[in-house]
Amino acid sequence: MSQFKLVSDDEGYYLEDRFSRQKPLRIQFNSPEYLHRLQDAGKRSELILRSVRAAPGLKVLDCTAGLGRDAFLLAHKGCEVTMLERSTVLATMLADAITRATRVEGLADTTQRLNLHRTDARCFLGALACPAEDQYQPDQAGVSKGKAFDVIYIDPMFPIRGKSALVKGEMQLLQRFLGVDEDAAELISLAFATGSPRLVVKRPAQGPWKSPVPPTVVFTGKTSRFEVIAPVHQP
Ligand SMILES: C[S@@+](CC[C@H](N)C(=O)[O-])C[C@H]1O[C@@H](n2cnc3c(N)ncnc32)[C@H](O)[C@@H]1O
Repeated sequence: MSQFKLVSDDEGYYLEDRFSRQKPLRIQFNSPEYLHRLQDAGKRSELILRSVRAAPGLKVLDCTAGLGRDAFLLAHKGCEVTMLERSTVLATMLADAITRATRVEGLADTTQRLNLHRTDARCFLGALACPAEDQYQPDQAGVSKGKAFDVIYIDPMFPIRGKSALVKGEMQLLQRFLGVDEDAAELISLAFATGSPRLVVKRPAQGPWKSPVPPTVVFTGKTSRFEVIAPVHQP
C-alpha cells in the first residue's frame, strides 16, 4: 500500500497520508480560516505584502506555488500572479481549487489574476534568463522576455520544527509528501540571473540558511523571514 493517496469528493481533491492520523490536506480558498486571512491582510500583518510591495497590477512570478495561499493573497490585493508548481499532485489540487474559487462570490475576481503552470521553475527561469528561440515558448509561458515580472517570489519547502509543527499540520503532511526542497539556492541564483528588479525569498526565521545572493533587506516574523534582493541589478 502506498503511503499517500490523492482522492476527490464533492469538495474537491484531498491528499491523505495513510500512515498518519493527521487530517487530509485540502486546498480551499473559501475555508473560513483562509477567508479570515484575506479579510485581515494588510502590510502590517502580512510580511509577504510588504516585502513584495503588493499593489494592483504588479506582475509577480511565484516559483513555488505549493498550496497557493501566498499567490492567492497577492492576487486578492490586485497583483497579476504567474504560479509555477512542479508537483503534478499539487498542481492538480491547485488548478481544481482555483476553478472552484471562480464560483465563490468575492473570490471570482481574484482568480482572474492567477495563471498556473505545472512546471519546474528552474526550466522556466532558465528560459527567462536566456530566451533562445528553440527552448522558449512564449504562448505556453504567457510572457515574452526576461523582465516581464516586477517581482520573483520563492518559498521553498523547509524543515518544520518546534511549536510551528503543531500549528501547521497541513504543511507537515506536505513536507512528508514532497520532502525538503534542496535546490532552493539554485532557484535563487537562476531567478537572480533573469534580471527581474525584485526578488523575495521566504525562509525559516531561525536556522543556518545562507542565501547565494545577500539580501538588501530582511523582514522577520515569528516563524519565517522574507529576504528581499532589490534592486537585483544596479543601473
Ligand atoms: C513551501 S511550499 C510553497 C507554499 C506556498 N508559498 C503557499 O503559499 O502555499 C513549496 C512548494 O514549491 C514547490 N517547488 C519547489 N521547488 C520548485 C521548483 N523548482 N519548481 C516548481 N515548484 C517548486 C514544491 O513542490 C512545493 O509545492
